Amino acid sequence: MDSTSEIPSFLRNLVCTKCLKQYDPDELHRLCTCGKVLFAEYDIEGAKEKINQTSFEKRKHNIWRIPEIMPVRKEKNRFSLGEGFTPLLRLENLGKILGLKNLLLKNESENPTGSFKSRGLCAAVSRAYELGVREFVIPTAGNAGAALAAYTARTNTQAHVFMPKDTPPLIINEINAFGADYHLVDGLITDAGKEARKAAEEHGWFDMSTLKEPYRVEGKKTMGYEIAEQMDWTLPDVIIYPTGGGTGIIGMWKAFDEMEKLGLVGNERPRLISVQSSGCAPIVKAFHEGKKYAEFWENAETLAAGLRVPAAIADYLILETIRDSKGSAIEVDDLTIKISMAQVAKEEGIMLAPEAAATIAALNPLIENKEISKDENIIVFGTGSGLTTPEEWEIKAMVDYS
Ligand SMILES: Cc1ncc(COP(=O)(O)O)c(C=O)c1O
Repeated sequence: MDSTSEIPSFLRNLVCTKCLKQYDPDELHRLCTCGKVLFAEYDIEGAKEKINQTSFEKRKHNIWRIPEIMPVRKEKNRFSLGEGFTPLLRLENLGKILGLKNLLLKNESENPTGSFKSRGLCAAVSRAYELGVREFVIPTAGNAGAALAAYTARTNTQAHVFMPKDTPPLIINEINAFGADYHLVDGLITDAGKEARKAAEEHGWFDMSTLKEPYRVEGKKTMGYEIAEQMDWTLPDVIIYPTGGGTGIIGMWKAFDEMEKLGLVGNERPRLISVQSSGCAPIVKAFHEGKKYAEFWENAETLAAGLRVPAAIADYLILETIRDSKGSAIEVDDLTIKISMAQVAKEEGIMLAPEAAATIAALNPLIENKEISKDENIIVFGTGSGLTTPEEWEIKAMVDYS
């Protein structure tokens, strides 16, 4: 048993990340009236009285480990399928091959729906449920739809999922099995987004699109708290993260800021390196061109479905975050991603999703460009499990990396 029942949330308001307009957090909101992303803010001074490093010994082993700085007010609305609290594994064999002494993998495959998307949708469904929502709609590359469908099954609510018709078949089956109503769209996630928006307006369903509501990112930020705790309240030198819509990077950066204010870590920060596929790399392009916003990526195509995001609403936040962290952005091609999937499986016994293997594919070029070095503490994010794409592991589809 644990001692977290009826611990209050110190949620104070919602604030626009662009124009700073504030909103009542106990009403349903999605975007700011200026069209930009809203963030949850907390009464950190109040939360500080309850949270310190030793308090973590008695806390839950899921994303509600720190309910004080999560958005759900009542314990009965903190739904869970056991998401979060994933292992931080040392990649000993791969580290030796690459000459990296401290290469670690945050293994998000172990989440209930096989990807880090469980965290965000758990938080967002729980909070929307608390505010009275019972019917949701989401455009997805697959994993976010599966996570929404799982948590709507758990909360006895209804999901409507719009996804590209070439979404990995197992994920479509998973969404169906969880009881969601689903629609296969001819096009990409941006096309699915248009249909989802139309359906939301027509039927009054709550739209859970990436960063178009304020709470998915709150679930994602728990990855930042976890790595600090797992590293004995220090942060790594570098975090390498695959970027589509960008919630992972943005969420962790928010966590580091909150953690410093809570007195859990100092002012050190990791360099954040965003990885995209060369078939769809709008953030990498904008980063290297010194732009504040990314351009729409035409004819996006990649094996890594979750990275096939030609336009991200939070492009300005992703770019700001990477630059504030003194990090960078890099693209990798699909063949290198496939080789990396095979390599991590063979060397470490871990089957990663293509999006996750993209972070491994980035290691060699980052070493060559001297953007990472052998003594640094490096965390790569294994954002999803390779088991959700069985077709990629068929013997004839495998790539020999040796
Ligand atoms: C396994 C996996 N990794 C990474 C991403 C990219 O995440 P984000 O869209 O939050 O940047 C996705 C998105 O679908 C994904 O499914």
